[in-house]
Amino acid sequence: MERKEIIKWSKDFETGIKAFDDEHKFLVKTLNDIYNLLNEGKRDEAKELLKRRVVNYAAKHFKHEEEIMEKYGYPDLERHKKIHEIFVKTVIEKLLPKIEEGSEEDFRSALSFLVGWLTMHIAKPDKKYGEWFKEKGIVIEEEAVEID
Ligand SMILES: [Fe+2]
Ligand SMILES: [Fe+2]
Repeated sequence: MERKEIIKWSKDFETGIKAFDDEHKFLVKTLNDIYNLLNEGKRDEAKELLKRRVVNYAAKHFKHEEEIMEKYGYPDLERHKKIHEIFVKTVIEKLLPKIEEGSEEDFRSALSFLVGWLTMHIAKPDKKYGEWFKEKGIVIEEEAVEID
């Protein structure tokens, strides 16, 4: 089956910090992988991937961003942290049960939510810290967090 993309990497997503751009690219790829598994009728595999990569990997990615923001005194850290926290809570309390027990349509609507959230989050608050680091002339030479 031809591979399709539900979310496309765009220049608008670039924060200018390589580690974070790599992590975001991996999240984008994961959402596309889940989408393609669903299209192939492999719902269980899609579910597993979502739990492993969206829940666990996203948590690692958020922590990584927060650590770097904290290290350099990013002024909007608390608000950014809160946004991450609400997202994780929503995924665990609302999305996962819906995916576990719901229909394929529920799964697809959960995936749409994830695509919308990620697009908006990278393009707005994440890009904002990218601009701040750039303005301050801070170069982050970190590596992306490891993919399991
Ligand atoms: Fe991010
Ligand atoms: Fe973020």
